[in-house]
Amino acid sequence: MPDYKSAGDRKSGEFGHVPVLLHRVTELLEPGILALGGNAVVVDGTLGAGGHTEHLLATYPDLCVIGLDRDDNALRDAEQRLAPFGDRFVGFRVRFDALADVLAGQVAPSAGATDASEILARVAERGLAGALFDLGVSSMQLDQVNRGFAYRVDAPLDMRMDATQGITAADILNTYSHGDIARILSTYGDERFAGRIASAIVREREVSPFTTSGRLVELLYDAIPAASRRTGGHPAKRTFQALRVEVNRELEALENVLPMTCEALAVSGRAVFMSYQSLEDRIVKKDFAQRIKSTTPPGLPMELPGHEPRFALITRGAEKASASEIEDNPRAAPVRVRCIERIRPD
Ligand SMILES: C[S@@+](CC[C@H](N)C(=O)[O-])C[C@H]1O[C@@H](n2cnc3c(N)ncnc32)[C@H](O)[C@@H]1O
Repeated sequence: MPDYKSAGDRKSGEFGHVPVLLHRVTELLEPGILALGGNAVVVDGTLGAGGHTEHLLATYPDLCVIGLDRDDNALRDAEQRLAPFGDRFVGFRVRFDALADVLAGQVAPSAGATDASEILARVAERGLAGALFDLGVSSMQLDQVNRGFAYRVDAPLDMRMDATQGITAADILNTYSHGDIARILSTYGDERFAGRIASAIVREREVSPFTTSGRLVELLYDAIPAASRRTGGHPAKRTFQALRVEVNRELEALENVLPMTCEALAVSGRAVFMSYQSLEDRIVKKDFAQRIKSTTPPGLPMELPGHEPRFALITRGAEKASASEIEDNPRAAPVRVRCIERIRPD
């Protein structure tokens, strides 16, 4: 068994983001890593502070990790943290559904990274030993006030994980139609009062465009009835989540990356997805359910050779964090973890 009291355990606090379910994630990825031995490469599709990756690199001395993050700040900090592992780590600043291009050598590694060619050659030859997607935003992103992710401070309504491109949350509030705003709040935020909030936003932006979060939070306090405010958590929580998902096209990226990841796995390789909201988890669950099916036409009395399922579920349902982990790290409360393993080549 790996030494679970490695660097990831000791240092997580220093880096502002405590990795969720660190030991369980390691345990889920371990069989793929051991099966590929000296050739094992894992993709960390959501590098963040590099907490999971640091632990994996410290635990398995032959392992290499390809780390992806669309957030330049996150990537730079993680690269510094992972520098002691030398060329066993390579980082790319991309949205994670660029994974296929990264593996095909079509994307340059980040400025701080070493040459990726040897690691990519290993993947081309053997496939991936594992992949990890710890979705959503990191604690550092929530803490960087000027990014606009947090609703408890007045800050510019930005919310882009990649601050160099795309629309901001303010753009959505100031330009989307009433119908589109209501749809986003209802679908991505599960907001019961989506129509009412959208009407208030459209009314308010006629007075002056939205620029900072304080005014939106105030509007939400007014638009959500007092009775619901008492039971439904912070009134801004669902709207902020919905805007973040739309700004970053989070669900589209997830839908795209699932097939790329599974196809890139070696036999015995495993993919772990950690979702923090029900829409993400539903997308992962649905994709995995398709993948573990046989392709033998229904109605035939026996499995046709070569049509057996290529993947198997490792987790039964979605796994959650324990009460004690949630107590230590409240960010772990909503997590739902699912893991799949490739069991046949084609
Ligand atoms: C929850 S944090 C990951 C924390 C990490 N596992 C750790 O232990 O430090 C998620 C990270 O993934 C990045 N991210 C989220 N969605 C992404 C996407 N579609 N493409 C690339 N990076 C993404 C965010 O910028 C953030 O830094």
